[in-house]
Formats: sequence, C-alpha cells, structure tokens
Amino acid sequence: MAPGAGHKPVLLDEVVGWFDRPETKVMVDGTLGGGGHAEALLARLPGIGRYIGIDRDADAIERCKVRLAPFGDRVTLAHASFFDMADEVKRLGVGPVDGILLDLGVSSYQLDQGERGFSFMTDGPLDMRMDRRQERTAATLVNEADEAELVRMFFEYGEEPKARRVAKAIVEARRNEVIESTGRLARIVEEAAPRKRDERLHPATKVFMALRIAVNDELSGLGAALQGAIGLLAPGGRIGVIAFHSLEDRIVKRTLADEERRCVCPKRHPVCTCGEPGRVKVLTRKPVMPGEAEEADNPRARSARLRVAERLR
Ligand SMILES: C[S@@+](CC[C@H](N)C(=O)[O-])C[C@H]1O[C@@H](n2cnc3c(N)ncnc32)[C@H](O)[C@@H]1O
Repeated sequence: MAPGAGHKPVLLDEVVGWFDRPETKVMVDGTLGGGGHAEALLARLPGIGRYIGIDRDADAIERCKVRLAPFGDRVTLAHASFFDMADEVKRLGVGPVDGILLDLGVSSYQLDQGERGFSFMTDGPLDMRMDRRQERTAATLVNEADEAELVRMFFEYGEEPKARRVAKAIVEARRNEVIESTGRLARIVEEAAPRKRDERLHPATKVFMALRIAVNDELSGLGAALQGAIGLLAPGGRIGVIAFHSLEDRIVKRTLADEERRCVCPKRHPVCTCGEPGRVKVLTRKPVMPGEAEEADNPRARSARLRVAERLR
C-alpha cells in the first residue's frame, strides 16, 4: 500500500479551498500526521514554494519524509510541538508565513498501531504518548493519579457521565495489579460501566480519549499556541484549525473571537469604547463541517469542525 493510503484527511477540499489563492506561498502545517493535507496542498497549489511540516510524533515525520519526497525542497520537516511553532520557524530562518494549518488531535496512524496504546481495539501497552521523548504515559496516569484526579479527567476531557464509577474501579483494581495494557483497562471500564443495549460507543471510548488528552496535555496552552501562530502570519495570511473535541473547538472559537476584537476596555465597561482593532477577521462565522458523503465515507470525520481566520495587520 502507498504511504498514506487508507487514511483520509478530513475536510480536504474545504481546506485546499481556503488556501487556494495567489498569496499562499509559505505554509506551516503544525500537525503533519500522515501528510494527507500536506500532499494535497502541495500537489494542488503549485504556488506554495515552502511547506514547513511539524509533528510531535517522530513516526509521522519519518513517514512524511517518504510521502512528501516527490515535492523535494519545497518541503521542510521538523519534529516539534506546534506550541513552539514560532521558534521552529525562526530557527529555519523563515519570516512571516501566508498560511497555517492545524488539524488537532490524534491521527488514524496512531490509533491503528496497537503498540502506541491509543486504542482499545487492539491490545497494547498503555502508552498514548505522541512524543515518545516525554516520560509520562497513560500507564503513569492510570496507576498513579489519585481517584479525584481520575474523576476530573474523565468528566472534563471525556465528558464521561460514569466518571466516578470508572475511577473507583481503576483504583480498586490497582490494589492488586499494575494496569499495563489497553485491553486490561478497557475490561475494567467495561465491567464498571457496561454498555447499554442501544449504545453505539464502546464503554471505554470516552475514558481513552480523556487519557490521551491528559497524557499529551492537548488543551492547556492551546489558546496561547494559537495566538503565537497568528503572530507568525503575514497580513492577509490565513490560519485554518480543525478541532474534533468540543472543548478544543471552544478554545479555538474563543481565541479567534478575542483576536478579532482585542478590546482593552476595563472589564467593568458594559460596552466596548476603545475600538481597538483586532489582528484577524474570522472568515467562518459557523464552523465548516463534513457533508453527508464525507461522514458516510469516513466516520472519523464526523466530529470535525474547521474554523478559518485571516490576519489583518
Ligand atoms: C489529526 S492528525 C493530522 C492529520 C494530517 N492533517 C493528515 O492529513 O494526515 C494530528 C497530528 O497532530 C500531531 N499533534 C498533535 N498535537 C501536536 C502538537 N502540539 N504539536 C505537533 N503535533 C501535534 C499528532 O501527533 C498527529 O500526528
């Protein structure tokens, strides 16, 4: 199979459409993943002379070295977090950029590789680290976090209604064992909160998502990272962000709205009188979502939401 075959980039035509303009010459992709968006943007938009691809997962970078090789020196890859995008771009000696793409969350490659521990569909070590240079794994959290911390994580990041029951079951299980595998954790969750008859989701789905978000610290700092990314854009440059999780999308929406109106009025003022102009204009009043055909073709796209903003000054 060709590298990348079988993994479908979400909202692909929409993403290409927002960047399809003569101004798009230098782009940063902060979440390169399988390189699906990157390949399409490079192939369909020949005006892109420099495409900087960043991922915190070394496997993604290695895979994209092969997949994007046909584009030669138009592509530069960096193993880093997009939270440090400004430093990475500066290190490469690149000035302001014309386009930034962030397709947040986990890639289907990560989910499909049992040994990475992101999924309960195949048994593997409880790992879930996107960047394997990091020490903390899912096993660290599952075996060491106290019960209240587990409850908060499952409620907040997973919106798991049975968070208390699941956390209690984990704490009870670990009195006798170290919970080391995705399969074992999935069974503990399933026993504590069995699936109702009409439920589509596996009982462990939300718990696994919550753990992944916590292990990789995906939400705290996202707002600041988006502000940093906007700071890198040239006037007229665009940023597109795809979120899959409601908390994530809320941070994206709020950060772009704040950037649109950088009001400096004291909080007690009922209306804005400073008229401080924002740094961006939000181009998507409502998030762009996949159409029925894409949803049917790619169930992982279902919760995707794309928001786009343009730098003004
Ligand atoms: C949904 S996938 C991207 C898929 C990609 N757009 C494609 O078409 O193949 C998300 C990727 O972002 C990476 N990622 C998540 N958070 C990151 C961060 N803070 N910095 C860099 N990469 C990150 C993950 O490792 C994963 O490879």
